[in-house]
Amino acid sequence: MFSIAATAIAHPNIAFIKYWGNRDPLLRLPSTGSISMNLDGLITRATVAFDRSLEQDILIQDGNEVPGPPLERVSQFLDVLRAMSGLSSRARVHSESNFPAGSGIASSAAAFAALALAGSRAAGLELTERELSRLARRGSGSACRSVPGGFVEWRAGEDDASSYAASIAPPDHWDIVDCIAVVSRAPKSTGSTEGHALADNSPLQAARIAGADRRLAICRRAILERDFQAFREVVELDSNLMHAVMMTSQPPLLYWLPATIAVVRAVIAMRGEGLDACYTIDAGPNVHVLCPASLAAEVACRLLEVEGVEEALTARPGGPARLVEE
Ligand code: DP6
Repeated sequence: MFSIAATAIAHPNIAFIKYWGNRDPLLRLPSTGSISMNLDGLITRATVAFDRSLEQDILIQDGNEVPGPPLERVSQFLDVLRAMSGLSSRARVHSESNFPAGSGIASSAAAFAALALAGSRAAGLELTERELSRLARRGSGSACRSVPGGFVEWRAGEDDASSYAASIAPPDHWDIVDCIAVVSRAPKSTGSTEGHALADNSPLQAARIAGADRRLAICRRAILERDFQAFREVVELDSNLMHAVMMTSQPPLLYWLPATIAVVRAVIAMRGEGLDACYTIDAGPNVHVLCPASLAAEVACRLLEVEGVEEALTARPGGPARLVEE
């Protein structure tokens, strides 16, 4: 066969307990475990076609051919896949997302989860969920959490074989919603990969790591028992800890804008009025506001009233990465 292709879709995810810092940056073995939820309705679709006539890999993102560092990153990932499968052909990769780049949603997670599934199938491999999660991790750490469905935990592990993600609970286990307050669409000045490399030179990272198992246990239990009060306390604590590490790294990273703080204050005010919600912030200025589904419409309206909020996207718990017919 001259060209072999497969297509897969995957959702991005929002981390409740964050991944920040690696023990091994090459293998993306994280300093701590992390917990997240896949975001339904937000989708990246990737098609991988290995083609013996190609002289180099090609990346087409949302219809445009992309050269440079993004292509190099995809090529390095395909090299891992080629080594696993024994295939030597180059590939054409099409990747399309239905959510805007720069909307504060980790696009690399959905992209590499979909790429791992489509790429492995195109290369003739039938991987288990665990093997796929390990493979996706090599492209982007958080991508390993977009392979299984629903509420997901990535166990840090000790080596390549033991560092992978698995579901804690399916999407319909708990009806909570992520309302994403978009305050900026500008590309971030320091990407996650560079940021992870700075984590260990913050004096606070050791304390963050030391308490991670405790926060993971509290978050896991809160999800399993649908205990929103325990959940919101540990989610905000963990996000604040990660940003404290970012701000005290050398050089320091400050991802927040004035509107970021305005949204955080609005969430605290909502809580004071009995509207149960909490915030979490990734490596960017946009704020993910989590709340029970019954409150999502009101929370989203309130977020749109905050000065500087351009848009509020909402997402329920999403399913696993899956293959689709062309
Ligand atoms: C702040 O998975 O994007 O979103 O492995 O370098 O691609 P790379 O990093 P990435 O880091 C995610 C950082 C985070 C927290 C999280 O999602 O856990």
